[in-house]
Amino acid sequence: MASTKAAILIPIFLLSSLLIHTTQAHNITAILDGYPDYALYNSYLTKTKVCDEINAHETVTCLVLSDSAMSSLVTAAKQSLAGIKNALRLLSLLDYFDPQKLHDLPSGTTLTTTLYQTTGNAPGNLGFVNITNLRGGKVGFAAAAPGSKFDASYVKAVKQSPFNLSVIEISNAVTYPGLLDATSASTANITALLEKAGCKTFASLLASSGVLKIYQSQMDKGLTLFAPNDDAFQAPGAPDLSSLSSADLVTLLQYHALPEYAPKSSLPAKSGPIQTLASSAAGKYDMSVVSQGDDVSLDTGVDKSRVASTVLDDTPVCILTVDSLLLPVELFGGAPAPAPGPASETPVPAPAPDALAPAPVSKKHRLHHSPPAPPMEAPAEAPSKAAADKADVKTGAAATVGPMGILAAIMSCFVFGNLIM
Ligand SMILES: *[C@@H]1O[C@H](CO)[C@@H](O)[C@H](O)[C@H]1NC(C)=O
Ligand SMILES: *[C@@H]1O[C@H](CO)[C@@H](O)[C@H](O)[C@H]1NC(C)=O
Ligand SMILES: *[C@@H]1O[C@H](CO)[C@@H](O)[C@H](O)[C@H]1NC(C)=O
Ligand SMILES: *[C@@H]1O[C@H](CO)[C@@H](O)[C@H](O)[C@H]1NC(C)=O
Repeated sequence: MASTKAAILIPIFLLSSLLIHTTQAHNITAILDGYPDYALYNSYLTKTKVCDEINAHETVTCLVLSDSAMSSLVTAAKQSLAGIKNALRLLSLLDYFDPQKLHDLPSGTTLTTTLYQTTGNAPGNLGFVNITNLRGGKVGFAAAAPGSKFDASYVKAVKQSPFNLSVIEISNAVTYPGLLDATSASTANITALLEKAGCKTFASLLASSGVLKIYQSQMDKGLTLFAPNDDAFQAPGAPDLSSLSSADLVTLLQYHALPEYAPKSSLPAKSGPIQTLASSAAGKYDMSVVSQGDDVSLDTGVDKSRVASTVLDDTPVCILTVDSLLLPVELFGGAPAPAPGPASETPVPAPAPDALAPAPVSKKHRLHHSPPAPPMEAPAEAPSKAAADKADVKTGAAATVGPMGILAAIMSCFVFGNLIM
């Protein structure tokens, strides 16, 4: 599977390796740096990291606010970054509108989707903006929520790069009741949020193992949690957690978090292995992101898990649910250990998982007993070595196609993340 994908992608990779070196289509922060009138708006784009989401979209129209309109928004949101973030996402239209197109809408009105709709948090079409040609040549902007008023209107064109990026100033933020009341991380009870989101098992494991405290101490610096839902623990392929040592359980739970803020919409932009809270200075316990359209999955090297919904998104903390447990290669690889350390125990024969008998029991992921307490060990190992280990693990299937296959397999996630947007 990996090797066929890789083989198909080799020519694409060779042709476009230089062009796809970065995933971003533009840098909105750098563009707005040239327009001091929007300095406050721009500073909030950075604080909320909405700039990354804008940059990751090839086609976007930013509705920007003057400093005074932006101050009113900040006041209306009671300074809550989570609320301001929702508003900034609603001001980021996923279509190209230049002044001509805005003043000349077919049938005088249109609904357009926004970054806020992509979060999956907008009920119904509340993540859409209604643009309407009002009397007297005015262009009005309103939330799609029924009964919304056209409180915001077109002021002027700021910058256009047809047909990818357009920056338009409007008079006010577009909001609707509830948009600005987003849960804030500083007051959130993580356990309660997880329970409400259908992740009770995960929440209780976090509490009983003490890992919740590790998460909490990371919240100021940036934290993204991948919480498996309750069904994930009952799924046929799910490992038997009671057979894990408590050190391995702690590692497994740490593996379900990143030491950085990475909302669902910014995950596809990540190429290459991403470090988790279980990764040591030497790397390992990493994963990669595979995305296709709005579908985002995490690939641990053992299995893929789909990112389902957003439970909390308040910079720098993000809680997402996933459809299955994330199984690190180091614990569940089922193959001989990638690092030839002191032969700890007899290597498992490692049959290809698909070749196993279909009996449900044999589909359980085999525990690979690794040396205990991986996060703390070998801090002196060079990162490049860790990357090489990772490559060994990931390209096991592609090894038979030679060096080109390995190269292509390493690049395949990277290429996929870039091409499919
Ligand atoms: C975008 O530009 C800003 C300067 O305005 C810079 O600080 C930032 O690093 C740039 N982002 C990327 C991803 O290049
Ligand atoms: C936009 O809002 C106006 C006023 O509520 C409504 O008449 C119009 O149908 C809406 N446009 C779209 C495309 O739904
Ligand atoms: C605009 O976006 C298209 C894809 O939608 C892309 O092919 C093109 O290179 C982009 N142009 C610029 C100037 O970024
Ligand atoms: C958080 O919520 C859980 C479960 O809902 C509850 O047991 C716990 O006491 C709450 N913690 C705090 C600090 O309020």
